[in-house]
Amino acid sequence: MSDNKRYTGLIDRYRNRLPVTDATRLISLGEGNTPLVKLENIPAELGKAVDLYIKYEGLNPTGSFKDRGMTMAVTQAVAEGSKAIICASTGNTSAAAAAYAARAGITAFVLIPEGKIALGKLAQAMIHGAVVIQIRGNFDAGMALVKEVADHAPVTIVNSINPYRLQGQKTAAFEIVDELGKAPDFHCLPVGNAGNITAHWIGYSEYAGQSTAACAFCEGSCKFEHAAVTAGRPTMVGYQAAGSAPFMRGEMVDNPETIATAIRIGHPQSWDRAWSVQKESGGWFDECTDEEILAAQKLLTSREGIFCEPASATSVAGALRDIRSGKIPEGSSVVCTLTGHGLKDPDTAISQCDDELLTVDAELSAVKDAILSNM
Ligand code: F0G
Repeated sequence: MSDNKRYTGLIDRYRNRLPVTDATRLISLGEGNTPLVKLENIPAELGKAVDLYIKYEGLNPTGSFKDRGMTMAVTQAVAEGSKAIICASTGNTSAAAAAYAARAGITAFVLIPEGKIALGKLAQAMIHGAVVIQIRGNFDAGMALVKEVADHAPVTIVNSINPYRLQGQKTAAFEIVDELGKAPDFHCLPVGNAGNITAHWIGYSEYAGQSTAACAFCEGSCKFEHAAVTAGRPTMVGYQAAGSAPFMRGEMVDNPETIATAIRIGHPQSWDRAWSVQKESGGWFDECTDEEILAAQKLLTSREGIFCEPASATSVAGALRDIRSGKIPEGSSVVCTLTGHGLKDPDTAISQCDDELLTVDAELSAVKDAILSNM
């Protein structure tokens, strides 16, 4: 991307590292290029000397990191002549699928767990014109159905089992290295299906000139450019919600529960790949309670002015605990991915705010009193 050129999305920016040619029609909404914000107040209050950054993926076009994967998956689906895409979703994938399908002029079918997706995500899927199929079951049941139905109908699956999704999502790691000039020491993510932690590791590995068992395209001899940009790779840390933590249990969980509905997943699709990430990077998995997740969400909004959805705050909840304990040592650079925007889930945000709204008469004295009594 030359300096005087309009930003036209992550495929265009990283096209030499992605499965496209000059002739490919790119289905893009200008995704990627998200801010890497250095936290100031939280580390100071913690009293720990760490460089703590958040990668604000909620600022993608549909408000989550899924856009990175969806631009690539839908671009590929269209290149293959597909007229319809399908996904199971806890909400964000369905929002992204709906938007990119609209852009491409194809149909999106989305399976969502009835009553268990945040309102903003449902609104997105509906307004973009996806065919929304609510199922009386959870995400894992929806995922199993999507895999089955794709064998019987002309639809392309755009969940992260589609390897093009992870190719798009790996660009988040490229952006971080391009901006910091090197890989961070630690990269912390919330884990549901474990596609995103896998994608980040693929990206970091590629930029370090190394292949990884986590990459479906690599498997020894990758066809994409692997020219090294930097020497190191981070330690990858994945945090799950305690009620939905198969990586902590060491086995699938049948009835996952958490307030962080985006990661209410008990049967992660990238199970083996994510274990490869953990082993190759020397990282770990851990879990956070719903209370810790909500506290981290509130801390980010009230101390740093950054609003993410509950699932996203899991990365910060876990990282703060590990920084406090010294497991992530002082002197480290740490990136936490905030995967989705807080506006996705207004209900949970409002229910976290104890203060009553002030309602006063529309008069100067009443407004003045309200101000003075709250200074
Ligand atoms: N954070 C958010 C906001 C998500 O929406 C998801 C996944 C994750 C984290 C976990 O990422 O699955 O790659 O480990 N949401 C999917 C969906 C499942 O359907 O929107 P992962």
